[in-house]
Amino acid sequence: MPDSVSPPRTIIVTGGAGFIGSALVRHLVAHTAHEVVTLDKLTYAGDERALAEVAAHPRHHFERVDICDGEALRAAFVRREPDAVFHLAAESHVDRSIEAPAEFVQTNIAGTATLLDVIREWIDGPYAAARSDFRLVHVSTDEVYGSLPLESETRFDEGTAYDPHSPYAASKAASDHLVRAWAHTYGLPAILTHSTNNYGPWQYPEKLIPVVVLRALAGESIPVYGEGANVRDWMHVDDHVRALVAVLERGRLGRTYDIGARGELTNLSVVRDICWLLNELVPAGSGGSYERLITFVDDRPGHDLRYATDPGRAERELGWRAEIPWDEGLRATVQWFVDHRAWSVERLRRR
Ligand SMILES: NC(=O)c1ccc[n+]([C@@H]2O[C@H](COP(=O)([O-])OP(=O)(O)OC[C@H]3O[C@@H](n4cnc5c(N)ncnc54)[C@H](O)[C@@H]3O)[C@@H](O)[C@H]2O)c1
Repeated sequence: MPDSVSPPRTIIVTGGAGFIGSALVRHLVAHTAHEVVTLDKLTYAGDERALAEVAAHPRHHFERVDICDGEALRAAFVRREPDAVFHLAAESHVDRSIEAPAEFVQTNIAGTATLLDVIREWIDGPYAAARSDFRLVHVSTDEVYGSLPLESETRFDEGTAYDPHSPYAASKAASDHLVRAWAHTYGLPAILTHSTNNYGPWQYPEKLIPVVVLRALAGESIPVYGEGANVRDWMHVDDHVRALVAVLERGRLGRTYDIGARGELTNLSVVRDICWLLNELVPAGSGGSYERLITFVDDRPGHDLRYATDPGRAERELGWRAEIPWDEGLRATVQWFVDHRAWSVERLRRR
């Protein structure tokens, strides 16, 4: 993996104790010379154990801060003097947003607005002399584009009109609009990204891949919405992390980059791939294949049919490309969740 070539800076990662944020923090500490500040509220989804390998590193610092708390954020900025922010802190689970949308509005929209104001004060105040060097990388999702038909070749790209469907997607779309408004109105130096579905280690075990592994190992039914025909575009979290670093180093100000691995799969094929891997890694004995546990359940309200993203701009302009093949990435991820079953069970108890 190429090391960063940019001069050492101080970088805040909001949501740095979450799934993608912790992978980004681990990568920045291991592969760059930057000072890295994890800024996280530690909600049910955040876990400092994901940062254990960098916890004692002299270039890593942890700030337990809620992005909705302007005072605490301001104080953290003054203490840490950041040159850049990767903004990942968010409520991130679509099903939860359907059950209880208020927290998504609060964190993803109000929290982002608070962060933007604190960044503006910082770069217009103490950091003014180096203002043009500052960067905000706002990490968003391809779900802001809505849904594509199942039977089509069409993909989302940066020109696709916003059409968010779930409260989660709407809150992320709103946060994108706020970032663009702060960039346009106040000249805040920002770049936006939209990523496809990520998978990998340390993902909170309410998301599809860990749910399937845990339920299969427990001999419980594996629920699949509808007929499992919905399509998602999967990318390993380490590919996403390399893309984010490339955006910071080579991304054009004010630009949006869609990040994906051209990894379209139906939900049913993802579940089957996991079952086949488990058959090999943890044979179920006399019970036969884990596939027998697959149970089709009622579809969730407003379930988007298909996401597929064209990462062409990111590939051309950033010199980045997703590299981890699905078979390899999924095998390592399933093995990780098999090895960390106790961690997953304990995390689920805390929610
Ligand atoms: N997981 C994906 O597949 C995916 C795809 C595209 C985009 N994204 C985006 O990437 C970002 C990270 O996603 P993830 O899957 O790692 O999420 P996650 O739920 O695993 O982690 C979110 C982190 O944010 C922290 N957080 C939540 N509210 C906070 C607050 N008010 N103040 C400070 N910290 C807070 C949590 O403690 C947690 O550590 C999100 O913005 C999400 O919208 C995720």
